[in-house]
Amino acid sequence: MDIFVKQGGIVEQAVDLIVVNLFQGVTAPAGATGAVDKAMGGAISAIIAAGDFVGKFGETALLYTRGAIPAPRVLVVGLGEPAKLGAHVVRAAAATAARKARDLGAKTFATIVHGAGIGGLDAAIAAGVLVEGTRLGLYRFEGYRSKPPKDWRPSPETMFIVEMAADRLSAIAAGVARGEAIAAGVMLARDLVNTPANLMTPTTVAERAEALARATSLHFEALGRAECKALGMGIFMAVAEESEQEPKLIILGHNAERADLPTLVLVGKGVTFDSGGISIKPGEEMWRMKGDMAGAAAVIGALGIAARLNLPLRVIGLAPCAENLPGGRAQKPGDVFRGMNGKTMEVISTDAEGRMLLADALAYATRYNPAAVVDIATLTGAQAVALGPQAAAVFANNDEIAAKLLAAADASGDRLWRLPLFDEYADAIKSQVADVKNSGGRTSGIGSSAKFIEHFTEGYPWAHIDMASMAMSDEDRPAQPKGATGYGVRLFTAFLEAWTK
Ligand code: BES
Ligand code: MN
Ligand code: ZN
Repeated sequence: MDIFVKQGGIVEQAVDLIVVNLFQGVTAPAGATGAVDKAMGGAISAIIAAGDFVGKFGETALLYTRGAIPAPRVLVVGLGEPAKLGAHVVRAAAATAARKARDLGAKTFATIVHGAGIGGLDAAIAAGVLVEGTRLGLYRFEGYRSKPPKDWRPSPETMFIVEMAADRLSAIAAGVARGEAIAAGVMLARDLVNTPANLMTPTTVAERAEALARATSLHFEALGRAECKALGMGIFMAVAEESEQEPKLIILGHNAERADLPTLVLVGKGVTFDSGGISIKPGEEMWRMKGDMAGAAAVIGALGIAARLNLPLRVIGLAPCAENLPGGRAQKPGDVFRGMNGKTMEVISTDAEGRMLLADALAYATRYNPAAVVDIATLTGAQAVALGPQAAAVFANNDEIAAKLLAAADASGDRLWRLPLFDEYADAIKSQVADVKNSGGRTSGIGSSAKFIEHFTEGYPWAHIDMASMAMSDEDRPAQPKGATGYGVRLFTAFLEAWTK
């Protein structure tokens, strides 16, 4: 679908559907919605007066114009209470409208920029989230069916963003470009996570990252088994040992050569399939573990955006990728491995593999002399139990990073909740034979996993995000259809932008 910005009145648009909005509690619509109402002889006022539509957040009303204006249909989307208006409202309203346009079979539709008129949001910001919501709402993973499902309609071909005020058009166009960049990053992450593990191996992830790098002029490198072994990454390599699939440490860099700029390193867990290994998982829900590379996907998506927005930072993305399988060469509980930073680790569970990838990637991050390092991983079932599908957990050894991440979570809608790094959590991962063990058992499962990872950081400001509950959604939300969410991409974008201010 193409998106164009156009000057004019929404009433005059000769498209299959026009989209306007209403705040909750408004009885006499003003602005663009008021103009449509007037042209239709008060049809919108009438459905409000009848009590059939109140403008609640997420509510929609469809009206047929029967020749009163060029477009045959009007969709009114509710924006909820004016006091609660924000980017997330506009994003969701745009997603709802776009999906409705698709359900109606509209080839062309036109929308106003929700929230930028009476709502008072900055026009560029509102236009940006309008595009994000539209693209993310229409996102569908095509899959591998021989025929598309019967109820799938094709996406509209064209959306016009219509604005009356000429002096706002350049801000809106800038917002659209930003929204396109962000949506592309989120959709890339969703595609990587939705693709099954037989088709999304560490090598495939690297190929996708390389294609992104070519399209956005990011620096790209991928270290294979031999190179990682030569670097001494014995802990990362232990996970990959049994798999026929070559592990990859994917390295993406925005402004990679600019050591003069503040350097942020993002590290994402890329387990392309997590069977648990010798400590094998129960079979029933194991298929979900094709999504165990969602941290890597978030990092790759965010690097693409950093490049497209040309952020004035040096941003390095590290995505250690491997497949965790049982077999004759596989690591076993009780085995001991040495990591790149010289520390040794005892395996308690081969299913605690994500932290093993992160351990060596975090040691590798040191070479960039980072101002901050943030890792993100689908790390523990305990996180999902603690917070559910509402928020990821964040741990930090530094309050400034924690504050920036929490603010980015608010701004992006990718929610976070901070948990403590109490010293006592480390007691559970003391080993009799090595510097540390990879699991502390069932008690304080998230806290001890964060302490394990902290063990492999090298004094730089650091935060760890456990997004186990956020990678895939069983629920259909407006800007986030069921399946892979792309969680973390917008969070990182907002975090990086905060760093530039
Ligand atoms: N990838 C899983 C965590 C996970 C669980 C992600 C559910 C998404 C949904 C991780 O590698 C894992 O297996 N963690 C274990 C750690 C334990 C063995 C210490 C867990 O949480 O049970
Ligand atoms: Mn596991
Ligand atoms: Zn895992």
